[in-house]
Amino acid sequence: MLMFIYLAYSMMALLYETVPAFEDTWIECLGDLGRYRMAIEDDDIRDRENWTAVSRHWYSKASDKAPTTGRLYYYTKSLCVAIPFGSARESIMTLFDPIMAPTPNQQQSRLSVAEFAFVKVHAIMFSGKQMEKLHSTMDDFLQSLDSQITRSSRKWLEAGYHMGISNCCAVIGYGNEANPISKSLKQSRGADEEPQDQLMANNDLGSPVPEDNALKLFSQTYDIVARRDGDPNILPFLHVSLVFIYHLTFLPEAIHFVAPSFPWKRTALMMNTLLGSCKNYSRIEETVLPRSESRRPLPEDYAMRGLAWADRVSPSDCFSNEKIDDDEKYFEVASMAEERKERVLWLGHKIATSNPRWLRYNSSTHEFTVSPENETEAKRTPMSPVESVEMGELPDAAAITS
Ligand SMILES: *[C@@H]1O[C@H](CO)[C@@H](O)[C@H](O)[C@H]1NC(C)=O
Ligand SMILES: *[C@@H]1O[C@H](CO)[C@@H](O)[C@H](O)[C@H]1NC(C)=O
Ligand SMILES: *[C@@H]1O[C@H](CO)[C@@H](O)[C@H](O)[C@H]1NC(C)=O
Ligand SMILES: *[C@@H]1O[C@H](CO)[C@@H](O)[C@H](O)[C@H]1NC(C)=O
Repeated sequence: MLMFIYLAYSMMALLYETVPAFEDTWIECLGDLGRYRMAIEDDDIRDRENWTAVSRHWYSKASDKAPTTGRLYYYTKSLCVAIPFGSARESIMTLFDPIMAPTPNQQQSRLSVAEFAFVKVHAIMFSGKQMEKLHSTMDDFLQSLDSQITRSSRKWLEAGYHMGISNCCAVIGYGNEANPISKSLKQSRGADEEPQDQLMANNDLGSPVPEDNALKLFSQTYDIVARRDGDPNILPFLHVSLVFIYHLTFLPEAIHFVAPSFPWKRTALMMNTLLGSCKNYSRIEETVLPRSESRRPLPEDYAMRGLAWADRVSPSDCFSNEKIDDDEKYFEVASMAEERKERVLWLGHKIATSNPRWLRYNSSTHEFTVSPENETEAKRTPMSPVESVEMGELPDAAAITS
């Protein structure tokens, strides 16, 4: 293994020098190789530090050259997959550093206001650095989000599920062991992953995430997005967020943290709009997940694959169609909008059946409602997105846990 990495590394370094046309590819490979080398080094701490520096060097070179938010999202995901890859925590900081830099730089100027603020909010919560900027940055993000979705139009299909996944990851503390939701996710998965847990504990470099901030980000982003009901581009975001909520309904201690601040009334209104175009109610009331005839997974199914909170709704045959190649997996086809609507409604129905305290479904009128306590919730947020981002309205973590 060592020999292979050394060999590959020197080949890549050679290619980097001699074939500049594919520079981006070589840089990324060099970063990965440095990281692998670092990950398998446990004899000599100095050696390990050297390889960490090498890896960081190449990654920051790569992120200066081609800063894509997509890559940042993938890194966030790697923090909370079922068997977390601890050293991703280090790599992600090298990508966040330019975002957190006080002086504007190339990386910052390539992102829109909403994207920049979004990544920065995660960088702050992830690292625990610059906490004093968290609220103003979150405000910047929430206030620019609605117009960002309008401007992105179909591009938000993809951006939306990345954002949804990242926000869910924040709620579980990016896989941090001290996070109570992360803990109950882990417990529910049983003992067969014990050795990996050990590894995670040793590599755990991040500070525990303050859950109230992550919950605020999660619920308020969702509230702003769900208000755009009728917009097909928000469906992947809603799908991902509701897969997360649905999974938590099986974990009473975990849903207890999220339910009080979750916009249930908004959810009921959005679901009722979707029901307006529903052709067959029994498909959403059935126990089996509604699938398209092609049984082809949705792009966000691939993006959620491997996440500890997403496996309840990916049927085992879901990813077995190996005929689909990598580029095609994330390719959007027209029929997917219909399938997403059904999946969102199916999740709504299952969440409502699990506990009518939050969301209710009347199977004779085919209508979603909420408990009287939550009836007023959506009224106090009129159509302007700016007014809905009052930070004071949500209960803080202390109130939830007590
Ligand atoms: C680490 O890097 C330094 C500077 O490049 C080098 O002098 C040193 O020998 C390296 N250490 C090890 C253990 O490889
Ligand atoms: C509605 O869906 C159910 C379950 O998938 C199916 O059995 C039934 O035939 C469908 N009805 C119509 C009218 O398509
Ligand atoms: C469903 O709605 C109908 C009509 O409003 C009402 O009579 C019925 O009691 C409702 N069912 C449930 C379970 O709430
Ligand atoms: C919904 O009602 C419950 C009480 O049943 C309350 O604790 C919760 O904060 C309400 N949620 C919202 C978002 O208003």
